[in-house]
Amino acid sequence: MKIAMVGSGYVGLVSGACFADFGHEVVCIDKDPAKIDSLKAGIMPIYEPGLAELVASNVKAERLSFTTDLAEGIDGAGAIFIAVGTPSRRGDGHADLSFVYAVAQEIGENLKQPAVIVTKSTVPVGTGDEVERILAEANPGVRFAVASNPEFLREGAAIPDFKRPDRIVIGTEDDWARGVMNEVYRPLFLNKAPILFTSRRSSELIKYAANAFLAVKITFINEMADLCEKVGADVQDVSRGIGMDGRIGSKFLHAGPGYGGSCFPKDTLALLKTAEDYEAPTRIVEAVVKVNDSRKRAMGRKVIEALGGPDAARGKKVALLGLTFKPNTDDMRDAPSIAIALALDDAGVEVAGYDPEGMDLAAPLMPNVAMKPDAYAAIEGADAVVIVTEWDAFRALDLDRVKKLARQPILVDLRNIYAPADVRAKGFAYSSIGRP
Ligand SMILES: NC(=O)c1ccc[n+]([C@@H]2O[C@H](COP(=O)([O-])OP(=O)(O)OC[C@H]3O[C@@H](n4cnc5c(N)ncnc54)[C@H](O)[C@@H]3O)[C@@H](O)[C@H]2O)c1
Repeated sequence: MKIAMVGSGYVGLVSGACFADFGHEVVCIDKDPAKIDSLKAGIMPIYEPGLAELVASNVKAERLSFTTDLAEGIDGAGAIFIAVGTPSRRGDGHADLSFVYAVAQEIGENLKQPAVIVTKSTVPVGTGDEVERILAEANPGVRFAVASNPEFLREGAAIPDFKRPDRIVIGTEDDWARGVMNEVYRPLFLNKAPILFTSRRSSELIKYAANAFLAVKITFINEMADLCEKVGADVQDVSRGIGMDGRIGSKFLHAGPGYGGSCFPKDTLALLKTAEDYEAPTRIVEAVVKVNDSRKRAMGRKVIEALGGPDAARGKKVALLGLTFKPNTDDMRDAPSIAIALALDDAGVEVAGYDPEGMDLAAPLMPNVAMKPDAYAAIEGADAVVIVTEWDAFRALDLDRVKKLARQPILVDLRNIYAPADVRAKGFAYSSIGRP
């Protein structure tokens, strides 16, 4: 089947490349000419492990192509996915649906053959109804149906996640659309990927409910970590001890500096707004959003404490290792490093930073951070080294070298990747998240 993917960002590009790899003919469309030019030249606009190879092999097999021309891209496609951004709307936190609706309008004006229009973007309940209305009004004069198919891939593991998903959720009340979606995902059924067909509205809500639940889990263990620090318990043991309970599960129970990234912050906010609009408040999620917001800046204070308090910290130098919101991505959206760097800058602390993939995107967001070419260059002359993101490259730093380069042997490990006893044995003052 020919598939069109409108929006070639993290989700659109990965989904498009994977669909092509399943054997479909895929056209990835984006309105950003620089992105399309770079994709045509074989240069990936984002960092995602394995993506460059997957794109190259499918382009070579003539199953994957790129264009800025939506009319040309959707021509002949049986399924047209909308995978554009749905950022937080400035001012009120609602999901900004202007990109989704603009694409729906353009599809409506250019559709010439029967097609299922599929929202892969994360969109609030009821968006499918509006997309359907826009399409009907633009009157393509051909049969169409609107389905919801939220995406659950994780950046950094996007390709394996897409190819071996825990589940595929498809929301549609239309039998024809169901048949088309079955064909789109047939290669995955052979891998026995569980598929859940549901109503469009349920499907739209499933995505927000899933992200909100994961945000709750992260925030819960973060608060447990704070309690561990007060009572002398070890959050990693607490996490293991509760995670071994099958009803709870061990994932998303790693204490850290607070969730960030392109999804959880905006999706939890958007869910709150939907809940408010429908007068069904989700108070647990409200608390999670508040706790997580204050946590990022609190991490700045934690570093200041490690330096001996606000007076001692003024004029000191800190090395931030890892700037992206998580490892194996270059995504800086809502990364905790931004709030931490700001809090340190406000306290008169000089900040140097290094990230294996995120420096280009981080630099404009953190103008007061001196970007360094590698971890050791950032550490040179630092009074404290702070691990903000758990890139593998930081898991085995040469601590003797760190000690020699740094002005003071202080390690603040916001991801708990070091064993406290090992680091202290090397003569470091070590602080972590919730470990004695
Ligand atoms: N990033 C993730 O890990 C992830 C995971 C699951 C779901 N999602 C959801 O998927 C959606 C896309 O997220 P993303 O991270 O891929 O966004 P992104 O910002 O990386 O990519 C969106 C792309 O859409 C393009 N675009 C915008 N308007 C367009 C138009 N009118 N025509 C053609 N192209 C247009 C932009 O140029 C951009 O390249 C969002 O709703 C997001 O919440 C993201």
